[in-house]
Amino acid sequence: MTIKNITKDAMYDAVAPDDFESMLELDRYNNRSSAFDKIISATHDHFWDPLDKTYIDFDEPFDIENEPLVPEDLIAALQTDYVSNHLSDPKERTRFINTMVLHSFSSILHGEQGALNLSASLCHVLKDQGAQEYAANQTREEARHVTAFAKYIRTRWGRPLECGPVLKDLLVEIIGAPEVYKKIIGMQMLVEGLAMGAFATFFNNIRDPLGKKLLQLVMTDEAFHHKFGKIWADRTVPKLDPEEHAIIEDWAAHCFQTLLFNLVSPTQQYDLYASFGLDPEKVIAAFQEVMTDDKRRENMRESANIFRVLVKTLLNAGIITDRTRAFYGMYVDMDELKNEGERMVGDDIAEDGIRYLQAINFKDRAGAPVSIAAE
Ligand SMILES: [Fe+2]
Ligand SMILES: [Fe+2]
Repeated sequence: MTIKNITKDAMYDAVAPDDFESMLELDRYNNRSSAFDKIISATHDHFWDPLDKTYIDFDEPFDIENEPLVPEDLIAALQTDYVSNHLSDPKERTRFINTMVLHSFSSILHGEQGALNLSASLCHVLKDQGAQEYAANQTREEARHVTAFAKYIRTRWGRPLECGPVLKDLLVEIIGAPEVYKKIIGMQMLVEGLAMGAFATFFNNIRDPLGKKLLQLVMTDEAFHHKFGKIWADRTVPKLDPEEHAIIEDWAAHCFQTLLFNLVSPTQQYDLYASFGLDPEKVIAAFQEVMTDDKRRENMRESANIFRVLVKTLLNAGIITDRTRAFYGMYVDMDELKNEGERMVGDDIAEDGIRYLQAINFKDRAGAPVSIAAE
């Protein structure tokens, strides 16, 4: 089987997932790329441990039965008259809001598990030792995210919800894919970009201080993962021939559409609506109505913002051309995006988090400059 890796830079050179023998080539050991060294060594600055109360205390209480975790305008279904009128009892309304948050946090947990396995799979295919060390380090960081989100969900709700089929299929596809570009675009650029957007939204709105701390600690790691995707794109996209560019652009659009569908499609939450005595078909019909109402659509802008992050990532990376511009234009204003800088949503939150961690990790070095440097 020939794997079309579309490698443009030696540090992304790759072998088949089962070709360990190539790792034993002697010349390989002296050719380690240093492009990721800053990200790798920064891991000590933002080290944290979900099992150590110095960093985060999962015993911190929250009255989940009586207090909604997020404001109502973040819950799309509650913007519809049908769902809003049906859930008139305040306690049931709170339970609905908090169950929708559980749904999001469960998707995040499954995404974190996907990121763990995906970065481990990069260790098997990437040939460069520096790139491998980066991937191994990301694997370690994703592992603490799985621990932390699983613990948060257990503490607040007891048990996560099932992974939706759309997200599951995408994760299975990118983890199993032998091609490096499929893995990096799918995970580091898109799933991680989406995660940064979702984490920032939850961080700014969640009322549970424990949840807020958890999101910030995870973001201190994620900001770097997203940068790994950017380094790949910077070194790969400008050197693509038109045929290769089309392959990468189509793959990115496929992943984007999958993630969009996963996040906004109410059909994936059928059982959840039914468990609140709602008729799922009526919820879906009510959603269609909201989408055509300007004022209410405006209320949902914050969740739509999450997709801006993804499109911005692809646009800045030079992946989007006129072939797919109109496709993304259906969701975001492309001209508006072009005029924004390169700074990513969530970078500020991550930098504050790194300062918090530096103060714990290096008491004598507190106050050292903070930067999410990519290279
Ligand atoms: Fe993660
Ligand atoms: Fe990540």
